[in-house]
This record gives sequence, C-alpha cells and structure tokens, in this order.
Amino acid sequence: MASSQVPTGLLGDVPVQKIANAARSTPFYLYDVASMRRAARELTGAYGATKAKVFYAVKANSAGPVVRAFAEEGCGADVVSGAEIDLAVQASVLPENIVFSGVAKTDREIQHAITLGGVGIRSICAESVEELLRIAQIAKSLSRKANVSIRINPEIAEDDLHTHKHIATGHDAAKFGIARVDLPAAFRVISNSEHLRFVGIACHAGSQFTETAAYLAAADILFAIALELPEPLRSTLQTIDTGGGFGIDYGEGCDVRPKHFIEAVVQKAKTLGLDRYTLGCEPGRALVAPYGILVARVIQTKRTPYDGPTRKRWLMVDAGMNDLLRPALYQAKHRVAPLGQWSGDDVTMRVVGPVCESSDDFGDHVLPEIPGSHVVFRDAGAYGFTMASEYNGRMLPDEYFWDGKVVSSLFSDSPWGARRLSETPNPLAEVGL
Ligand code: LLP
Repeated sequence: MASSQVPTGLLGDVPVQKIANAARSTPFYLYDVASMRRAARELTGAYGATKAKVFYAVKANSAGPVVRAFAEEGCGADVVSGAEIDLAVQASVLPENIVFSGVAKTDREIQHAITLGGVGIRSICAESVEELLRIAQIAKSLSRKANVSIRINPEIAEDDLHTHKHIATGHDAAKFGIARVDLPAAFRVISNSEHLRFVGIACHAGSQFTETAAYLAAADILFAIALELPEPLRSTLQTIDTGGGFGIDYGEGCDVRPKHFIEAVVQKAKTLGLDRYTLGCEPGRALVAPYGILVARVIQTKRTPYDGPTRKRWLMVDAGMNDLLRPALYQAKHRVAPLGQWSGDDVTMRVVGPVCESSDDFGDHVLPEIPGSHVVFRDAGAYGFTMASEYNGRMLPDEYFWDGKVVSSLFSDSPWGARRLSETPNPLAEVGL
C-alpha cells in the first residue's frame, strides 16, 4: 500500500490525523459520539410502537460524555456496581431507568440500589435464590420494598452460543443467572416476602453474537417463562429484558445489526401477546465499539533473523495490553490501520506494545514496510478504556470525544509514581495492629 493509499474514514468523518497531530500524548482513545447516538436511535427505532427501554451497558464505555449522550437519547443504564449506579445518575440517567446485574453485589450496593432517590432503582436483577434472600433481608432492615427482577440462565449449550468462552454466560457451567430448575424456589422467595416487589425477568446469554440464533433461543426461553409465571408475580411483571450481546464486525464479518435481533424479538413477543409488557435489552459493545479507536505512536521496528516461522518483522508501538486488553485476554483481533506517512510495499508485521509480557501482542497485520508516525486500533470503543490498567507504571490513556468537533476530553493525569508512594503510615494503629 503506497502512502497515498493510507485509508481515511477510520472513524466516520472524524479528522483522526489532525487530532493525532494535536493530541498532547499517545496512546489515546478517540470516540465519535454522534455515531453512538445514531446507533442508539436505530436500536430504539427497532422496537417501533412497542413499549421498550434500551438499557445501555455502562461497563462497555463508562465515559461521562458517552453515558450522557445515551441518556439524552432516552436510554436507561445496565450497571454492575454501586459506582456505575452513581456514574449513571450523574450522567442524567433516572434511577427508574437503571437495572443492576452482577452475581456478587455487596450489601452496601444493594442498600444503595434500594434507597437511591427515595424509591430505589428500576430493578435489582437477582442472579441466585440466595441473593434474593439477601435482598429481602436488606430491604427489611431498611423497612423498604426492593424492586427485583430475576436473571434467568437460559442454559444453552456452550458450543451453541458461538462466542469466546470468556464471554459466554448463558450456559449451565456459568456463574450467571438462576437455573430454570431453581425458578420455583425463586418465585416462592419473592411471593413470601413483603420486602420484594417483582418487576421483571431478564437474561443475558453472552456477548459478541454475530448471528441472531443464540440470542433468539435465549429470548424464546425467557418468553416461555414469562407465559408461565405464577401469580402474584404475573400481575406485577413489567419488563422482559432480553439482554445485550449484539456483535460487531471486527473485520471478520458480522452481517446482522443490533436492530435485526430486536426486530425478531418484537415479532416473537407480539405473536405470544407479550408486547403488553415493556421489552428491554442491554447492549454495550454494539453501541460504542465501532465508534472508538485507540491511536498509538510508532516507536520502532525490529527484525528477528531466524529462518522459518519465528522469522518476524515486529512493529513496536506505544500502546500496550494495559491500554487495550482484549487481544491478550480473548485473542481478539483489532484491525490496525496506518496513520501518517507510511511507504513501501505491504508486509506482514507483528504489532506489539511495550508491556513486559509476551501476551502484549496485537497480532499480525499487513502494513506498508516503512512506518509513519501512528497506528490506529479500530473498533476499540467498547471494553477498551474500561478494561485499561496502569500495569508496568503506565498512565491510563487520554480520551477525546468528537461530536462534529472535539467537544471534550478526559485525562487521567494523577501521576502513577506519586500515588504508589503516597502510603498512609500505619492506618490500623487505632485498632492496635
Ligand atoms: N448485560 C449484562 C448482564 C452483561 O453482563 C453484559 C456484558 C451486557 C449486558 C453487555 O453485553 P454486550 O452488549 O456489550 O455484549 N469484555 C468483554 C465483554 C464482556 C461482556 C460482559 N457482560 C469483551 O471485551 O469482549
């Protein structure tokens, strides 16, 4: 690829090169918030006139400008910690539009969810019968009623989920959700407690589904359970939430768009007469991943001289697995595009970062032989910054938000070294330790 052919349009109409030249440091994340808003609108539109709520999964990208944009587009929030509850509220999501999942919620988090704003959040999504008992106990101690939903484990065979095993959740070896055989016990706990208000059923079978089959199989199971709900639960049911998991095209293809999953869900719900309830979903990745990139600076190349398969051209960049963990954790491949003046013939280069781990490796990529200034990791808007760490004493990457212009930035400036040296002398002295 000659330098004149270096691709443009890496991130919609965002002038990536100009921003890379002007940014104060690398690596940095850059997000196209306007496109995220469009994605949210398209998904919401797929519900048509059916009562529905899209709960954006904050864990995918928890940046204020992103969560706020989705709140403005009418989305609620799917959260997994007390801190995410607070972030969502501060980003203008109403408590009545927040759903809270997670298999190990602390007592404190449950209390917070019950009491927030006086009436609590929309629902605490219980993932076990044991948890339901805890929620009831905590609500009792607060003399309150907790809004609860139950997350059902659809128990789809792991192989049929067709996704990476680390992000497959709806099978019987997973820690998530309530097994179908335990549902009668869960229903009994709810019916017998004055402190639980049953409002919904939910499931989340996994992530990065590039076909609709597994998602719809899980929705079928959820719908069958909704139809068989015993009283009094049936009368208080408000929301049926089919979860997140809509896949995106990381370069290996994905023919379905989020709206295709939802159009099929709505169709099924209508056929079964379940569209009298509010339908919900919990997308994270699909609303943000394609609209974010990680921009890194090229440090240098290296050749290993050995003959055979170990012979390699390496491209060292200043982004590592601490900035973008997905390749190391899930063997995920993010397309790498050249930015700046690259030249020469296309060659295969192994793109790696500075972290002292062999898994700090972004894989083989075809790039012009003589590198320019930067590389771009594509489709990094989800589970990029939110999974970043300071491993090896590295700063968290900067983030820039584009909405027709660069509208804001987030800098995690507090120096790592100073924090690691700011210990408190004997904090447990008071208790004699
Ligand atoms: N709802 C629940 C209960 C979840 O656990 C998740 C994701 C979502 C919704 C959103 O799923 P999404 O639409 O983003 O697929 N770090 C991994 C993904 C982990 C997903 C965890 N749960 C990755 O980078 O691929």
